[in-house]
This record gives sequence, structure tokens and C-alpha cells, in this order.
Amino acid sequence: MKKIIIAPSILAANSAALGQDIKKIENAGADWVHIDVMDGHFVPNISIGPVVVKSLRKATTLFFDAHLMITNPEKYWLEFQKAGANSITFHYEIETDKKKLIKDIKSAGVKVGISIKPSTTAAEIETLIPYVDLILVMTVEPGFGGQSFMESLVPKIKDIRRFINKNSYNCLISVDGGIDSKTAPICINAGVNVLVSGSYIFNAENPKNAIEALLL
Ligand code: DX5
Ligand code: ZN
Repeated sequence: MKKIIIAPSILAANSAALGQDIKKIENAGADWVHIDVMDGHFVPNISIGPVVVKSLRKATTLFFDAHLMITNPEKYWLEFQKAGANSITFHYEIETDKKKLIKDIKSAGVKVGISIKPSTTAAEIETLIPYVDLILVMTVEPGFGGQSFMESLVPKIKDIRRFINKNSYNCLISVDGGIDSKTAPICINAGVNVLVSGSYIFNAENPKNAIEALLL
């Protein structure tokens, strides 16, 4: 079986000590750093921008997984790539020409992902799956950390897994929202490759144990 990738979401980290918190999760066994970008428009919250990503790039060599919860990723993705993001994920629910955006992001030499809100179905994204490296399935409404995992979305994860396997596409499935030691095994069983987890990892007394418990 392939290794499950652990991607702590720094939305739940201590913003006054982000560099140190990233070192902490790196030492605890994290594989990626999940960076939540919010514009106060696509979602009702505002988080970090490219300036912060650029500073964090100096703190670690871990893979930066940028999750753009913004209305106009076509305007901003390049800033994140230049700041050091290794993967750019934007939302399916935006109005932009998604095939063009996928092509543009890929041509910059970074990975590209599509994220879907709870109400977006697996069938809606099928035509884009062959072109992307990652599908990020939101298991909470995007915008805030610390919400509860929506178990009703597990069949959707399984549908996406079946579709990828049936067609032998080279696309990872990531899950984001309410991931902890109880919900992670459900997602692994459903076929995910990447676990994004914020409050569970950063609120843990011992992040190493917390990460290990995700994989039990
Ligand atoms: C929510 C973000 C998530 C969030 C996860 O909009 O995309 O990445 O930080 O946080 P937890 O793990 O606390 O649900
Ligand atoms: Zn996220």
C-alpha cells in the first residue's frame, strides 16, 4: 500500500510563531504543509497571502500545498507559486475557465489540484480529473478550522476513488475538514491518499503521537 501523506493545516497553528510551529510538525513526521488562503469573498474568512508563504519558504523544505479558497485564483495563483508553493489547488465552484487555469498552473512547473465543497458531486468533476494531480474533497464547509467531519460525504470519496482507479488516472485524493484519529481511518478506507488536519494536530500535546494515531 502507498504511504498516506500527512498535511497539517497551519490555519490552526500559532500565527505569532508559524516558523516554529512548522518545524514542530516537520519533526513530528508531517509530509506537506497545507496553507489555507481565504479572501473574505469565496469564503467568509480572511487568512494568509503570498508574503507569509514567502517567509515560511525559508523555514522548511516541506512540500507547500496551497488551498486557494478565493473567487479569482487566476489573478493570484502565480504570486503563490513565486512565493514557494509546490502545489496550487483552486475551487471547482469558481466561474473561471478551469481547463485554462489548470494548464497555466501546470506550465509553471507546479502540481495542480481542484477542491470541491460538500455540495459538489463527484460526477461534476469527472471531466477535469484526467488533467489534475489532486482532488481535494472538503468534508466541512470551507472557511474555518475546527468543524465536524461530514460523514455523509464518504460515498463521494469512494465514487472518486472508483473513477480514478477504473481509468488509471494519476491523481491523488486529499480530504480536508474535521480529520482526527476517528475520522482518518474512515477516509483511508474510502481511498484517500492525503490527510489534511488542522486543529487535531496543532492542539495536540504531542503532535508526533497525534500524527501516528491518524495512521492506525
Ligand atoms: C477549512 C480549511 C481546512 C481547515 C482544516 O476551510 O480548508 O484546511 O483548516 O481544519 P480542521 O482540521 O481543524 O478541520
Ligand atoms: Zn484547506
